[in-house]
Amino acid sequence: MAAHAPRKILVTSALPYANGPLHLGHMLEQVQTDIWVRFQQSRGHDCLYVCADDAHGTAIMLAAEKLGISPEQHIDTMRELHVKDSDGFFINFANFHSTHSPENRKWSEKIYKRLKDNGHIASRTITQAFDPEKQLFLADRFIKGSCPRCKADDQYGDNCENCGATYTPADLINPVSAISGATPVEKESTHFFFKLPEFEDMLKAWLDSDTLQPQVANKLREWTDAGLQEWDISRDAPYFGFEIPGEPDKYFYVWLDAPIGYIASFENYCQRSGHAFDEYWKPGTDTELYHFIGKDIINFHGLFWPAMLHSAGLRPPTAIYAHGFLTVNGTKMSKSRGTFINASTYLEHLDAEYLRYYFAAKLSNSVDDIDLNLEDFVQRVNSDVVGKVVNIASRCAGFLRKGFNNRLTDACAEPALLADFIAAGDGIAELYEQREFNKAVREIIALADRANQYIDMKKPWVLAREEGREKEVHDVCSVGINLFRVLMTYLKPVLPAMAAKSESFLNVSLDWTDLQAPLTRHELSTFKPLIQRVDPKDVEAMVEASKPADASEAPGKTDATPAAKPPKAQDTVIDFEDFAKIDLRIAKITAAEHVSGADKLLQLTLDLGDMGSKQVFAGIKSAYRPEDLVGRLTVVVANLAPRKMRFGVSEGMVLAAGSGGDELYLLEPHEGAQPGMQVK
Ligand code: MSP
Ligand code: ZN
Repeated sequence: MAAHAPRKILVTSALPYANGPLHLGHMLEQVQTDIWVRFQQSRGHDCLYVCADDAHGTAIMLAAEKLGISPEQHIDTMRELHVKDSDGFFINFANFHSTHSPENRKWSEKIYKRLKDNGHIASRTITQAFDPEKQLFLADRFIKGSCPRCKADDQYGDNCENCGATYTPADLINPVSAISGATPVEKESTHFFFKLPEFEDMLKAWLDSDTLQPQVANKLREWTDAGLQEWDISRDAPYFGFEIPGEPDKYFYVWLDAPIGYIASFENYCQRSGHAFDEYWKPGTDTELYHFIGKDIINFHGLFWPAMLHSAGLRPPTAIYAHGFLTVNGTKMSKSRGTFINASTYLEHLDAEYLRYYFAAKLSNSVDDIDLNLEDFVQRVNSDVVGKVVNIASRCAGFLRKGFNNRLTDACAEPALLADFIAAGDGIAELYEQREFNKAVREIIALADRANQYIDMKKPWVLAREEGREKEVHDVCSVGINLFRVLMTYLKPVLPAMAAKSESFLNVSLDWTDLQAPLTRHELSTFKPLIQRVDPKDVEAMVEASKPADASEAPGKTDATPAAKPPKAQDTVIDFEDFAKIDLRIAKITAAEHVSGADKLLQLTLDLGDMGSKQVFAGIKSAYRPEDLVGRLTVVVANLAPRKMRFGVSEGMVLAAGSGGDELYLLEPHEGAQPGMQVK
């Protein structure tokens, strides 16, 4: 319950780069932020979550060039994909904007001007590597050469992956531009710097103010102790970004305008919604501002950003909440192991709420890394969410429907037990507030255990078979539903979709603020399953789909959920008997449709003649338009065990040649073949 007037809270998570798809590491951050925001909202606070794509920089410019499109087109496409992925994970942004926006240009110019007027901008000439062919200054990571220490070839300009040496590009043997292959030359240019050393006292006080997590403050003190350096905030043309006012061909470095994107996204939201903007940015305001970020970008948020805000006469963040990195199965996410998992790949195979729950069960307020152990993931979600929480509702709902018209008793039969559950709410709320989600989840699951023990002890399934004990069955199941209601209210920030389904079942909205009165004399809707068990096969399929194309994409694999890495034909011989088990049939495509939310799949309805019809999901969307497929004949594996996919059950597999993408050719029989004919 909001004890005082509602707090006004603005929350951000880091702006993802618009040069690649979101992966599960990004989702860890967005899910953490979203849970905290939904929690604040559930407590009655005015809490808004804004974000945006980070759209500027050399990498994005070069990526667009490679694709033969403008940077603007590139970032628009990426933004659409990012929005779709975040949506799929139920991330409840008030606004998802872009740093390449009029609001951000305005604020970047305004803040820069204030820094400049305050004497906090310096300019001087520096010498930098330059690509004479591309006419482009080269950042260290765009220069390659042999390591000066171990002589390993093809190392980047700042460090050697072979021996770990760190150096400057000038030390490389035979340096070349990674963009054109030309030998870089040294060239002079004027750069602009933000005079960070002038903020030393302010920043030391900020680091000592207990605003930051202790580990983060300690790490940043290493910077202040070593002596702060001026920060280079300009880049030379060609660059995709905002030109610095009054300085032709000079652009703001992407990291200057990126955090300003928080302000810009919020302003864009306020203009559309009429929400008050100014009171959030004035020094001394009682509104709150929180930035959720990963531990790799704490210097930008913990040093440069507060100094910029200070000079620009804007309020400092209330706190910065850094999290650790996501690892999968104990190691860094890896493409070859299939553990570098894109958000969209996950969503093609699994329910977003599984991962929201798993992340919640692991997240704390520290910067420790978080491991997604895929076996533990299946186990944990099935045991806690399905086996414990949903179980309470499903086992009680059946008796209530059969014997009592879905009506709860007139009075709660176990007021003390229910009161315990409600009393636990304050502690759980405090854990959410402190971002100790793992502890909150542990408490909630402990309550679920208690609820199940209560039902186990009362055994309504035994009572239901005995004469004259209807009242007891009714009591026990009504208590169970009331306990479930409290638990789902506590879990609502983590499991928003499951909470919405529970609300339709319970016919009540799950509000933390009105748990006090039990649900009595109340009619439920008929119970429908709230969530499916995680099928380990779907996890395997997701991992396979995440492996690089050359390792796993064999010709003909059109089902987006391959079973195992297919062996090379010449390596493996199968018996004729084994081959004969495969029932290949001619099928006629009678309908083909896009699958909402799936990037690669089309849903096909196949006519197999006497064998009836089948629904198949085929990963051929990149090569075929649905309307072009209807009426065609193809070949289908007809006796493949049905596979449950995220979008439905696939009852077979159509055959196609090629390596995927544009190169994909559906097999077609000669004229005269009829649906249902066996292929031998
Ligand atoms: N564009 C900058 C942020 C600008 S904020 C003003 C950036 N983008 S990013 O796409 O590389 O990362 C976005 C966020 O995702 C960062 O907070 C980063 O720490 C986080 N993560 C990226 N990979 C991650 C993991 N593997 N695990 C957890 N978080 C990770 O940095
Ligand atoms: Zn080396």
